[in-house]
Amino acid sequence: MRLLLVAMIFNLITMSTGRSAEELLGDPDAGRQLAETVCATCHVIAPSHMPTTDIDAPAFPDLAIEPRVTALSLRVFLQTPHERMPDLHLDPDETDNIIAYILSLDQ
Ligand code: HEC
Repeated sequence: MRLLLVAMIFNLITMSTGRSAEELLGDPDAGRQLAETVCATCHVIAPSHMPTTDIDAPAFPDLAIEPRVTALSLRVFLQTPHERMPDLHLDPDETDNIIAYILSLDQ
């Protein structure tokens, strides 16, 4: 199990050669649609948007400009169970699209 985890992490690291390269994997428009349907209840998903719950989730535009937030960190976060955020079971394409969308807000 531990070996599998190490192999997975190694894979993630070698797959992502940096922001710009990984951004191209996903489709930010599809990611935005997904964010509107799945993430928007808890997260501010765009500068003009307000979430419907008050759960104190980080705003996507804020995440996008944080230097510690990269395609890799988002991928790891989205593929790991969390206490305060439900496990969303995104498939690989959805994960790529969401990452592309979040990082596209960095401008
Ligand atoms: C039920 C509410 C809820 C939903 C729905 C939700 N989140 Fe979250 N999310 C949270 C909360 C609360 C946190 C902060 C807790 C934490 O960081 O563990 C969070 C944190 C995050 C982070 C923080 C990562 C970081 O490095 O700080 C990311 C990225 C994220 N969510 C992405 C998403 C995406 C993408 C979706 C939709 C596909 C989504 N979330 C849907 C509640 C939610």
